[in-house]
Amino acid sequence: MSDTSSFRGMPCRTVGDSGLWVSEIGIGLWKWGYPEYDHSRVGEYVGFQILDRALDLGVFHWDTAASYNAGSGNSERLLGRYFANRGRIVRDKIVLATKFANHHREEHQLGPYPINDQDFTPNQCGGSRIYLMRELEHSLRKLCTDRIDLLYLHSPNVATAGGTDWITPLDETWSAMDDMVSQGKVRYLGISNHSPEQARATIEALKQVGKDSSRRIIAIQNCYNMAERSKLGSSEGVGEQEMLDFAAEYGISIIPYFPLAGGLLTGRYTKGNLDQVEGRLTTEAISGRFLTDKGLKLAAKVTAMAKQKKCSAAQLAIAWLLKRPMLASVIAGCTKLEHIEDNVGAVKVKLSKADIDELNKASAWS
Ligand SMILES: NC(=O)c1ccc[n+]([C@@H]2O[C@H](COP(=O)([O-])OP(=O)(O)OC[C@H]3O[C@@H](n4cnc5c(N)ncnc54)[C@H](OP(=O)(O)O)[C@@H]3O)[C@@H](O)[C@H]2O)c1
Repeated sequence: MSDTSSFRGMPCRTVGDSGLWVSEIGIGLWKWGYPEYDHSRVGEYVGFQILDRALDLGVFHWDTAASYNAGSGNSERLLGRYFANRGRIVRDKIVLATKFANHHREEHQLGPYPINDQDFTPNQCGGSRIYLMRELEHSLRKLCTDRIDLLYLHSPNVATAGGTDWITPLDETWSAMDDMVSQGKVRYLGISNHSPEQARATIEALKQVGKDSSRRIIAIQNCYNMAERSKLGSSEGVGEQEMLDFAAEYGISIIPYFPLAGGLLTGRYTKGNLDQVEGRLTTEAISGRFLTDKGLKLAAKVTAMAKQKKCSAAQLAIAWLLKRPMLASVIAGCTKLEHIEDNVGAVKVKLSKADIDELNKASAWS
């Protein structure tokens, strides 16, 4: 039998209580699409190079969403062109993860932006059967594939500001998701942006409507990085530890998003250079969220420690995540070839208990 715990030197982990393996280092394709039209940062030419290199380096867990980038669906389209071009031998190696439920305005894939919500009926987003089933067909076409390996519900069915669906009963959503598995078009199910309470309700709903006990939630994709540890709970007042406990209790893997805090933890941004650095955090609206005094102080600490350990700051930030309990894979976004080449080095970074304690202490406020 072949060694299933590594691929091309990249260590692998199973996802939750399932037989699905992912590479410890994955890749996130949020900011991929047609940069000229949808404000993405990676187009086809560089994107194909990054994906080729990622696979060379053993990175076979690739994460996108029907709504990426900016509601356009262009990230899935780019990936579909890649699969069509590289063929089945490549597609079969990849764990393709995508997400449904957030606003996906593909009629506007080539602009104009921002999109006028009035152009869409209420059935064109959310967790309803009518929407999810149509979204599945669209995604398979865009991705040029016959199945999705890991499908997340992108947001819970709750009324939130900018939320997706506030009325569909959970059993409708999860019987539709379960049917996709029965049809063989989806292999495994996950949830994203769910609090432990919302995740418990989902697990219960799936237990009621699922065809058999193998229909489990195996992964939860929430925001988690050293600068935003409390965001793992996904809901006001729910902390990091509560979510880690929840994941351990139910045997569900955590797949953290924003693992580098959008680039803050790569050491590129310092208090003194913000008007000189070209990056997501200096050119996009999320900068205010990450480029805070506390965030920049933490980034400086990570950079200094990384120097001592002879690794990059990004590698140290990813290595810290890989040491957290229940973590399966880190899907940092990459917009340059050198990002993926750097990030894979995180699996070689050795963190002692003292190192981890030091990083935990420096980030305890978050
Ligand atoms: N489920 C959800 O609701 C949700 C939400 C957000 C994201 N996600 C997923 O999570 C993935 C990761 O999150 P993210 O991409 O938003 O943020 P991230 O991984 O925290 O940060 C990615 C950014 O960091 C910079 N970077 C990456 N590697 C680097 C390196 N080695 N050296 C220097 N800079 C480096 C790049 O910035 P520049 O572009 O500035 O160069 C890149 O765009 C997404 O792609 C998406 O798949 C999911």
